[in-house]
Parts: sequence; C-alpha cells; structure tokens
Amino acid sequence: MDKIVVNGGKPLHGDVRISGAKNAALPVLISALLTESPCTFSNIPDLVDIKTTFKLLRNMGVEIEGDSTVTVSAGKITASEAPYDLVKTMRASILVLGPLVARMGRARVSLPGGCAIGARPVNLHIKALQDMGASVELHGGYIEARVDRLKGATIYFDLPTVTGTENIMMAATLADGVTVLQNAAREPEIVNLADVLTGMGAKISGAGTDVITITGVPGLSGTEAAVIPDRIEAGTFMIAAGMTHGDINVLGCIPQHLDALTNKLRDTGMTITPIAGGLRVAAGRKINSVDVKTLPYPGFPTDLQAQIMAYMCIGSGLSVITETVFENRFMHVSELLRMGADIVIQGGSAVVRGVPTLYGAQTMATDLRASASLILAALVAQGTTEISRVYHIDRGYESIETKFSALGADIRRIKA
Ligand code: EPZ
Repeated sequence: MDKIVVNGGKPLHGDVRISGAKNAALPVLISALLTESPCTFSNIPDLVDIKTTFKLLRNMGVEIEGDSTVTVSAGKITASEAPYDLVKTMRASILVLGPLVARMGRARVSLPGGCAIGARPVNLHIKALQDMGASVELHGGYIEARVDRLKGATIYFDLPTVTGTENIMMAATLADGVTVLQNAAREPEIVNLADVLTGMGAKISGAGTDVITITGVPGLSGTEAAVIPDRIEAGTFMIAAGMTHGDINVLGCIPQHLDALTNKLRDTGMTITPIAGGLRVAAGRKINSVDVKTLPYPGFPTDLQAQIMAYMCIGSGLSVITETVFENRFMHVSELLRMGADIVIQGGSAVVRGVPTLYGAQTMATDLRASASLILAALVAQGTTEISRVYHIDRGYESIETKFSALGADIRRIKA
C-alpha cells in the first residue's frame, strides 16, 4: 500500500486548480441509467471511486468511453444488479437502486455495509421506493426491488439524506404522476444532478431547497453536462493555507458553495477574497480558536470536520467541534493525538486545546476525510510524518500530493 511522506513547516503559496466534485460526479454518471440515449459528462475527476462507478455500470452492460469527459450509453442494460464485491468498496453504489427500478422495474443491489464513520443505513431510500409502490425485500444482504411502474408520492425524509434525495429524485423522473420530496437535502451536488436530469427532459423544481417536486415523464433523452467543482477539496486547500501561514489562489471553485467554511475561517483570522475564477486565501497573523458544529448544507459540512480539527489543533485557545451528522466521525482524533495534539472527546463533541507545535509521526489513514486531516497536520508538524493506507485518500482527492507540492509543500508518495 502506498504511503505519503511529508516534511512539515513550509508555507503554501501559488495557485491550485480544483477538480470536479466526487459527490456530484457519482450521481451524475449513474443518472445515465435512466435513458437509452448516450450522455456526455465533463469535468469528471480522476478518482478511485469514479473508476469503481465505471466498473459498476459496465457490469450492467453500460458502455463508457473517455476519462475526464465521458460518454455513458445505457442503451441496453443486461443486468440490474450491483454486486457486493463492488458495493462494499463504495457505498455510493446504492445510487443505482432508484434509476434501475425506474428504468427496468427491478433491481438487486447489495446493502452497503457500514464504514469507518458510521452504520450508514439506507432505510430512508428503501421506504421512499416502497411509498412509490415498489416491493422491496432484503435477502442475503441484498435489496431486491420490483415494480411495474413507480407511482408519484409525497415522501417525507426523517433526515435530509443526500444520496437518499438523489436516489429518489432520479427514480421519480420516470414515475407515473408527481412526487414531492419533503425535508430533502439541499447540497449543491443535488442541484447539479437536478440540472443534468432537467437537461435530459425531466420536470423538476425546488432542487436546493428542502421541498423538491418531480413530475414523471414517459422517457428521457441524452444530454451533455459538466460536473461542478469539488467544494470539499477546495475547503481542504483553504484550511491548509490558514495552517501553514500561506497565501494561495484556489481556482475553479464556486465561492458560494463554501460560505459556511469561509465565514468560519474569517473568524479564525484568515483573509478570504473573491478573485477572478475563485478565491484568494491568506493566513492570519495568529490562529483564533473557534467552535464548529457540522450540519446538513448550508451548514458547516461534515466532510470538512476532520480538516478544521487539524487546523484548531494549532489554534491559540479552545475549540469545541461537534459532529451532528455521523455517529463515529472522530477516527482522526487518535492519529492527531499521536502528533502531539490536545483533544478530548466528550460525546458528540471534541474539545481541542491549541498547542504551539505538532510533531511528525507514523500515522494511518482510516477514512477519506480523516486522511486529509493527517496530511494537513503533517504540513505544519515539526519533522517527518508518514501516512499509510493512502488508498483512502485516493478515493476522493485527485493527485493530492502533486497539488500540495506545486504549492511548496515538501510532500511525496512512496509507491508500495
Ligand atoms: C453523502 O453521504 C456524501 N456521499 C458523504 O460524503 C457526506 O458526508 C454525506 O452525504 C453528508 O453530507 C456522497 O454524496 C456519495 P446522508 P450519504 O444520507 O448520502 C443518516 C465523503 O467523504 N441516514 O446524507 O450516505 C446517515 O446515517 C462522503 O465524500 C439514515 O439514517 O449521507 C447519516 O447520519 C462521506 N438513513 C445522515 O442520515 C438513510 O437511509 C446523513 O447521511 C440515509 C441516511
């Protein structure tokens, strides 16, 4: 397994270009299952999870050509199935469930297991399909769904589930009648998906708000569309600038997708200025410790919680970081402690007391965003840090060590 090695202490300067968003690309690629016509999508990031999605779709008989711009042709679907060996490597495979049931009237999708950050149930996805008339049973770790044609329904999500909203929004585009999603998630990735579906002829209103209305149509056409930039990758680099006394230009991001983070980083003393094509992000003279509570969008994103915790480890005071979305998203704490951080977990919160210095250590990545926080801590630590199991990071960050070294970091990958 590859390792990443960092020698800390270098301030970051220069430009970094943000890649397409993993969490937008996954549902957008899968939406092509809804039509027999080819769809072409651009700004697709080069990530392990994207390769897994290609495998998943090809498994079903879907033809895929290209890499950063891909054409996906689901003219003939030979298998309405997502097997365990693929789903276990990428939970987002659950996103094929809605489109397959809507297009084929049936689907057999492995229940995604839990992962490092939580149990990750999909009960809300299943209940919504049942509300739309599908019979859904669980057999041997698989979800088996079938229906003649989905019927529009009013669905109330107990929680604003991102992939749940995406799954059912896709399914509803071909249902008979009107579907209203209440307490829907509001993430920008959902708006991106809704725009793509609308381009295919779907009738959708309200994406980006907590009530989305979809009027079913008999069929959808192909489309050409782009995937939005990755706000979590952008946020990770913004935090890195604040930690390393840096001053960088984050290019190709959409600033308004980052408002919650930008507001918080300004409170820590950073200067963040809109520029042509993105944001200029400069560290403050000192790092004010701030409290953070993760919430569904437009609140502070849970996917940046580990990263801002690394930042607060070198803050000037006390920071209380509360994780409200997932039940076990503090796996990075034990690794940060090994680098000299002062963190105490109390229930769903981590109390972070800033320390003057972190120290390089041998560490291990546990999940995608936790590994990003270890890289951030390593960038400022005294000495050398080794991070193993970096396959976690390759799932969601495109050439992260190349981008950081272009900004002046002393970082390299050691191939296994
Ligand atoms: C999406 O996961 C993202 N993944 C996650 O990003 C992100 O952390 C999460 O949304 C929250 O923003 C993709 O978009 C591919 P949820 P998702 O359903 O959809 C509970 C990353 O690092 N819930 O919004 O799986 C669930 O347990 C990943 O890129 C149910 O109880 O998250 C959680 O507590 C990590 N039942 C809460 O809702 C359900 O049926 C929010 O989960 C579904 C969800």
